[in-house]
Amino acid sequence: LDDTAAVADWAARFVLQRVTEFAPTAERRFVLGLPTGGTPLGMYKRLIQFYKEGRISFKYVTTFNMDEYVGLPRDHPESYHYYMWNEFFKHIDIEPSQAHVLDGNAPNLVDECTRFEKLIKEAGGVNLFIGGIGPDGHIAFNEPGSSLVSRTRAKTLAYDTLEANKRFFGNDISKVPRQALTVGVGTVMDAKEVMILITGSHKALALAKAVEEGVNHMWTVSAFQQHPQALFVCDEDATLELR
Ligand code: F6R
Repeated sequence: LDDTAAVADWAARFVLQRVTEFAPTAERRFVLGLPTGGTPLGMYKRLIQFYKEGRISFKYVTTFNMDEYVGLPRDHPESYHYYMWNEFFKHIDIEPSQAHVLDGNAPNLVDECTRFEKLIKEAGGVNLFIGGIGPDGHIAFNEPGSSLVSRTRAKTLAYDTLEANKRFFGNDISKVPRQALTVGVGTVMDAKEVMILITGSHKALALAKAVEEGVNHMWTVSAFQQHPQALFVCDEDATLELR
């Protein structure tokens, strides 16, 4: 697609189509996996607009977020809880108990990750997992070198990710949390369908590694070459390195 606005619009329409054709009910909910970050903001804005126009309801949609920082208070403006409520959930009709975000302040992080995986299973698995990637090809916080069959767990963030995310913490890298809870590559691979949003020339190398080279755990997003129904939605700039 031409630019980030077109990616946002296309992705939102895709969600609209998937949710409406599924026609979820209280007994048969649509399960959506969601990312944070700069890339999906436009998609969330469009989905809020669709909701306000009465074209989509999230009443019977269950969501699972990809990740959350460890140790940031829930109401910290950079926590992913805060982001999701502020940018999306508070504007739509989702049931709060059905919007799942990992708890980075849980007393036992291992138990929290096990609980999250169990909840996804009990919800019947994810129908559509939406993701974003970092310039180093990470999906969720599955940094280079992560296992491609990994499950939800605590991860120490790569220096590149701290560097990329410091813009949200007053440009002070020492303020970026060092750890996060994240779904695994295997967790996302289990979704029936995956849609990854990639925009900007700084992601061009990652996109080329993801689709034009072999599956490689140093570029964890490349795992989706082996997913039966994975879709990469990109703008022109992100395709600069493609052959
Ligand atoms: C966010 C996430 C990350 C981001 C990635 C890109 O929940 O899991 O993989 O999608 O870091 O972030 P932006 O969109 O800010 O470039």
